[in-house]
Amino acid sequence: MPLNKVDKIWMNGKLVDWDDARIHVLTHGLHYGTGVFEGIRCYKTDRGPAVFRLREHMERLHDSAEIYLKKIPYTAEELCDATKKLIKANKIEECYIRPIAYRGYGEMGLNPLKSPVDTAIALWSWGTYLGEEGLKNGIRAKISSFERISPNVMPPRAKATGQYLNSILAKMEALDCGYDEAILMDGRGMISEGPGENIFIAKDGILYTPPLHASILPGITRDSILKLAKDMEMHVHITDVDRALLYTADEAFFTGTAAEITPIREVDGHHIGKPGPLTKRLQEKFFRVIRGKEGQYDNWLDFV
Ligand SMILES: Cc1ncc(COP(=O)(O)O)c(C=O)c1O
Repeated sequence: MPLNKVDKIWMNGKLVDWDDARIHVLTHGLHYGTGVFEGIRCYKTDRGPAVFRLREHMERLHDSAEIYLKKIPYTAEELCDATKKLIKANKIEECYIRPIAYRGYGEMGLNPLKSPVDTAIALWSWGTYLGEEGLKNGIRAKISSFERISPNVMPPRAKATGQYLNSILAKMEALDCGYDEAILMDGRGMISEGPGENIFIAKDGILYTPPLHASILPGITRDSILKLAKDMEMHVHITDVDRALLYTADEAFFTGTAAEITPIREVDGHHIGKPGPLTKRLQEKFFRVIRGKEGQYDNWLDFV
């Protein structure tokens, strides 16, 4: 499916036409994966478009850049302002936002420091990532034969373009085997996360999610769900999850900006079932929060 084009893309401080947002074929990041990026969503609310946890995403972009690029030439604040300006310029109420900073056209070779850091923000209208049906009734997942990258291979907490080859291998394998999504294990054989989502399970009324040391990306949706679950007085354990706990879970779901809260109904042929009570309550709450219907969490929304 082609992207849903909008009018403008922000590139290095300027708004350019969608079709003119081009780069040179010798862009460093294209060859060596030297880029960092974010995925953010803007939702339609009664008070106009609102970007969900914009500041936290731009701060994570800066953290990823610290590892791979050293520095982005724009502050998190400037990138937040640019994002809102771009949403206004495109007159869009609801969209997916993709900021990216990468080593541009300069020199080839493995020393990236001689190439400039280019920065862009694009947005487009993007519906449910794992399908409307998946959001409602759950998806089927497969534990991947590919291991999730680990801290001394590539830092899992960085959201860097090249690192997504690991996610892509897992995703393709899952699709080839007839599943909707993959679940990767870390180097210790503990459950880590999906290719682009964090994972939660529920067993006997308790929620579990893998800790940061399970090679996960510290998801902003994961963080939001942890906060909501605590506020809703659910019992949550951030702890290692092994394969058997996942196979015997009462409920399981993915969290992520793209996937939002997508229930998992089966893993490797083990039946988990339709979205259960904890999943449903959290899903319902989350969807109210992002639409600005839960005043207590309005500080997560950046109204455009
Ligand atoms: C590997 C990976 N894990 C988890 C997530 C979920 O993170 P977030 O909730 O911040 O979108 C993402 C998406 O950015 C991801 O790419």
